[in-house]
Amino acid sequence: MKAAAKAHTNIALIKYWGKRDEPLILPMNSSLSLTLDGFYTATSVDFRNDLSTDHFYLNEQFVTGAEKNRVTAFLDRIRAAAGKPDAFAEIHSTNHVPTAAGFASSASGFAALAAAAAKAIGLSADEQQLSILTRQGSGSACRSVYGGFVEWEKGTLSDGSDSYAVPVASANYWDIRVAAVILSSAEKKILSREGMRRTVDTSAYYPAWVDSIPNDLAAIKEGIAAKDIEKVGEIAEANCLRMHATTLAANPPFSYWQSTTVSIMQTVQDLRATGVPAFFTIDAGPNVKVLYTPEHEEKVRNMLQNITGVHDVKVSKPGEGVSYI
Ligand code: DP6
Repeated sequence: MKAAAKAHTNIALIKYWGKRDEPLILPMNSSLSLTLDGFYTATSVDFRNDLSTDHFYLNEQFVTGAEKNRVTAFLDRIRAAAGKPDAFAEIHSTNHVPTAAGFASSASGFAALAAAAAKAIGLSADEQQLSILTRQGSGSACRSVYGGFVEWEKGTLSDGSDSYAVPVASANYWDIRVAAVILSSAEKKILSREGMRRTVDTSAYYPAWVDSIPNDLAAIKEGIAAKDIEKVGEIAEANCLRMHATTLAANPPFSYWQSTTVSIMQTVQDLRATGVPAFFTIDAGPNVKVLYTPEHEEKVRNMLQNITGVHDVKVSKPGEGVSYI
């Protein structure tokens, strides 16, 4: 009863921001992402008869506390689905993601864990079922089941059976780049889970956010179909700014940005004024991702690397979905 899987992170171009059901992780809005080849998690799950609890190792370190509890709670769902409530596992997960720099690894982490655990326990799940399972570990992770451009359809049913990711365009469909700009000091103070909860509960701008999504989604899919970097980039950047605006109108208000975050945003907009089609997006943290086409690689990379407060720039291409090792 052992299996191993690998999954890449994804960056949302249309953000998932807010839940309508917390335990099942059902979103208020549909979202759309690009899976990235540069960052991934590899996870093995071994269900063993001699275990009476799960043992979780992350980057070879034995993990206890909240992080381990989240993994166990997720495996409880897999055990329940498989009808094997007493099957406990040893889990080894390796993150090829700069987590210490405040980089999200939950998307690749839960996608790899779901795939490996489902296979190891003998649960036959197609990609759609795998996406539904993965979603219950971390919402954005359900998109990492697929490569390339991926939409997470929010669904309407209360049991979550129609809330899953669907592929929009495969990893080799369009050769574009995403530069992940990593800040020197990037402690994530408000987790996305808490941040989105506070925003849904208190932000006066939240209803406007939800209302804006259908147009953004339709337009960005047109842009992807036309391989139009200007259109895709403009919509992604505007959608990111609108998401972050909701946090400023929350009570108490908050922001994920640091001064370097704003410097990077300005640099990208300055670059654009010189004719380089580069666009930024930012998740629930201070790091910035920059979208552009490969012919601008050198210029974009040089500009980003020279910003004070930038620790590193890691460039990704579109990545593949979950695979078994
Ligand atoms: C801003 O998927 O980390 O990155 O479902 O609570 O685990 P949970 O949240 P998570 O939130 C991601 C939010 C985001 C936008 C996005 O990836 O769509």
